[in-house]
Amino acid sequence: TAISSPAERLLAWYDRHRRHLPWRSAPGEAADPYHVWLSEIMLQQTTVVTVGPYYTDFLTRWPRIEDLAAAPLDDVLTAWAGLGYYARARNLKKCAEVLVADHGGRFPDTEAGLLDLPGIGPYTAAAISAIAFDRKATILDGNVERVMARLHRVETPLPKAKEELRALAARYTPDLRPGDYAQAIMDLGATICTPTKPKCFLCPWREDCAAHAAGDMEVYPKKSPK
Ligand code: ADE
Repeated sequence: TAISSPAERLLAWYDRHRRHLPWRSAPGEAADPYHVWLSEIMLQQTTVVTVGPYYTDFLTRWPRIEDLAAAPLDDVLTAWAGLGYYARARNLKKCAEVLVADHGGRFPDTEAGLLDLPGIGPYTAAAISAIAFDRKATILDGNVERVMARLHRVETPLPKAKEELRALAARYTPDLRPGDYAQAIMDLGATICTPTKPKCFLCPWREDCAAHAAGDMEVYPKKSPK
């Protein structure tokens, strides 16, 4: 068999260890863009554990984007209570309305189309494009920044290192299964390559990682003094 690439090693790890999160589709099944979008908006600045019940309640109450678009804003804000950052809920409602009014209730399947929508920035556009449409998109959140900074022992501090880290993240992203890859690297950052005490002994990228070889994982990513 051919020598495996880092992306293939990460995907093999994900196939064994993927977290079962409410918004994830069954292996090999396409994800619903509405579900992916709702979860990604909720997961901005809120943890996976907190989001779980809110996500389930929202979908029970508003099973389709048309239902959310038709809901009174006050009901949506009340259901959002506890998640914080209410601008997210207002944009959520606005985005649902725009999709129903102008896009036939369907999400655009390109990053550029997604970026035009209320409340959808570069991270969310890339995440929806990858996870819902299985398109090759570079996901760059705090987790991915940390993983890339350690793999390559990037000495440039954040935020200056952003574009360097983005270029690295793009290089690792595979043509095959980009949606699974996006979720796999999120899981790697959340469960293995954690800010402190990373579990390198469980990491599929241990042999690829410059920081692991040097034993100074926790030094990365470097940060500019505030
Ligand atoms: N954080 C943001 N998006 C996520 C996702 N799709 N799965 C797990 N954690 C996430």
